[in-house]
Parts: sequence; structure tokens; C-alpha cells
Amino acid sequence: MIGVRRPRAVERGRRMRFLVLGGTQFLGRAIAEHAVGLGHAVTCAARGLSGAVPPGARFVAIDRDRPDGLAGLGRDRFDAAVDVARHPGQVRRALAALEGRVGHWTFVSTTSVYADTVTRGQRAGTAPLLAPAEDGPYGAAKVACERLFGGDALICRAGLIAGPGDPTGRFPYWVARLARGGEVLAPAEPEDPVQLIDGRDLADWIVRAARAGLAGPFDAVGPACTRRAFLERCAAALDASCTTTWVDPAFLDRHGVGRESGPFSLPLPLPDTIGDASRDVSATLAAWLTVRPLEETARDTLHWLKAGNGPVTGLTAAEEAALLAAWHAAERCYTAVPSNGRARRCQASPNGRRR
Ligand SMILES: NC(=O)c1ccc[n+]([C@@H]2O[C@H](COP(=O)([O-])OP(=O)(O)OC[C@H]3O[C@@H](n4cnc5c(N)ncnc54)[C@H](OP(=O)(O)O)[C@@H]3O)[C@@H](O)[C@H]2O)c1
Repeated sequence: MIGVRRPRAVERGRRMRFLVLGGTQFLGRAIAEHAVGLGHAVTCAARGLSGAVPPGARFVAIDRDRPDGLAGLGRDRFDAAVDVARHPGQVRRALAALEGRVGHWTFVSTTSVYADTVTRGQRAGTAPLLAPAEDGPYGAAKVACERLFGGDALICRAGLIAGPGDPTGRFPYWVARLARGGEVLAPAEPEDPVQLIDGRDLADWIVRAARAGLAGPFDAVGPACTRRAFLERCAAALDASCTTTWVDPAFLDRHGVGRESGPFSLPLPLPDTIGDASRDVSATLAAWLTVRPLEETARDTLHWLKAGNGPVTGLTAAEEAALLAAWHAAERCYTAVPSNGRARRCQASPNGRRR
């Protein structure tokens, strides 16, 4: 169901009592910081293991893995609550503990809930979902979490979240790599789509949507651009001088290069599945999502990295150089076939090994 049910605090025009289940890292923290900045009374409830809550927010220690783990929240009431959990058991426990005491719920889900990762231009309201799985992998467990919330909740299916504070090292890989300049190895195809959202824009939208009582499923990600535009725009924003070598993903697979994250990978958002990176977000944009320029996200992420705060995961400079050398050697193995005039790969193309 998609609709608007404004929390009572908004109807009365007073500041909201805002609960973030989480709030000690990246997105949850950004939501809490933004809500504090708007003058709301913000409570962050977590174990406190991942970091500190932002200045101005109240911290309440809870442990969602324990049956009585939310007791620290007492009998407090909230106009709006946001949950970033990944485990249905944690969601179930929170909904039971806070029953009747939250005006509006937002659940931060993911575009990984979708079953079809190939078709372009899918919409949140109609795209088929994975089968829910209580202890399943990430996307299936998020579907199970979503189902626990009622029709009045906002189901915010985030795409790849970027910007300062990103603990995953994925977007920071591309920022750090481009800032270094020179020949950049990128996975083909250059015209494939890329989609991401700055965590600060997502935080702003979640707070505004909660104020308005927005309900139903929405994809929370910016409009798509091409991989080529992504790299060129980021490089220009960082004042970096780069050339791009587009490498066949099959070559990268043969060399053991990871596709999503971690060491020896070319991380998201580039090697993404088409369907995940080309979602039709017109409904979310119509519901007040505002997206800052990619250039700003890239520049701010670089500043954050330079301040020594963030991790970068992916290929090292030496690994990238070795792969580029192997790729160029493989390219030299292409030979012209006089009979039809088309290029053909020779049998003995080099096949490197993951280190
Ligand atoms: N990053 C992306 O690109 C991306 C893409 C799509 C969707 N998403 C979604 O966006 C959200 C990101 O949220 P986030 O950045 O705030 O990071 P997160 O890793 O989801 O944060 C988990 C939060 O829950 C708290 N927590 C974990 N276990 C707990 C427990 N047993 N009891 C109480 N609190 C517990 C953690 O704090 P403590 O450790 O201090 O307890 C932390 O604040 C997630 O829902 C994720 O699925 C992310």
C-alpha cells in the first residue's frame, strides 16, 4: 500500500520524538544526525559496539539478540522510528517491544530484495521479490523483515549507499583509484548503468518521509547513469587525469577478481547487475527524494578518506597494474582472420592467477 499518514507530532506542528534502532554507524548515524539538526528529539538504541551516536542524540543501550534486550527503552513513546536491521528475529522483537508506542515506522531495506536482477527499469511497487527466508541470505532475510511491518510503514529499499562514513570501502575504492590518476581498469560494458545514493540524501529523505507519514515500498536510490559517465564525472570532480581500460568481465572472472567487495575485487557500484542498477525511481523522486550531484559525493568522500577515516577495499595498485599488463598481453593475442576480416582470439591467451 502506498499512502501518507502523518505522525501526530507533525499535525500538531511540534518537533518529533524520533527513534533510530541503530544510529551508531553510517546510515543510521546520518539519519540521527540529520534529525537532530532539524531540531527533533532523537534517541538512538544500539549496543554501542559500532561507534558513538551523533552529538545531540540520546543513546540507549539495547541488545536485539536478547529476549528482553529492548528493556532499556522503557515505556517511551515515539512519533517515528527507523529500523536498519537485517535479521527478522530482531525486527519481530522490536515490533513487539514497541507495540502501540510508535506513530510511524520506516524499515531500511535494500534493492537486493528483488528476484529479477536483469530487467531494466523495474519499479518498487510491482517488481517480484525473492522468497522470504528467516535465516536466509541478505536479500531474502530483508524480504522476511519487510513482511513483519504493516501497510502503514515506509519500506525504504536502498540502493548502493555512498558518501562520507561509508564503512564498506566500495564507492571509496573508485574515488581513491581515480584520484591516483593514470590508466584505470574498469569492468565492461561502459554503457551499463550505475545507480547509487549519497547517505546524506537518503537520511534527509527518510526523515522527511517519516514527517509526512509516507507508507509503502519505495526504491531509495538516485537516477542511473552509465559506467563511463560515472568514472568521467568522478574523475573530473576530483581533478584527476585518467584513461579507462574496459576489460571483459570474463577475463576478470578467470583471474579471480571479485565483483562486489573485499580484497582483490572491483567493487560495486561498477560490476553490478543491470536490473539492480537501473531501477525506475520516479515515484521516489515524486515523493520528495532529492539527490545531490555525484561530483559532490565523490569530492566529499575523498576529503573523508584523506582525513584518514575510511576503509578502501578492492585491487591494490600492484594488482591492478598486473591485471592491466595481462589484459594488454591478451589483447595482443587477437589476430586478424583474412577470410572474413574479423578479429579472432588466439588459443594461447594468458590466464593469470589470483594472488
Ligand atoms: N551500505 C549499502 O550500500 C546498503 C545498500 C542497501 C541497503 N543498505 C541497508 O542500509 C542500512 C545501513 O545501515 P547502517 O549504515 O546504519 O549500518 P548497519 O550495519 O546496518 O548497522 C547496524 C546497526 O544496528 C546496530 N546493531 C547491530 N546488532 C545489534 C544488536 N544485536 N542489538 C542492538 N543493535 C544492534 C549496530 O550498532 P551496535 O553495533 O553499536 O550495536 C548498528 O548501529 C542497512 O539496513 C542495510 O541493510 C545498505
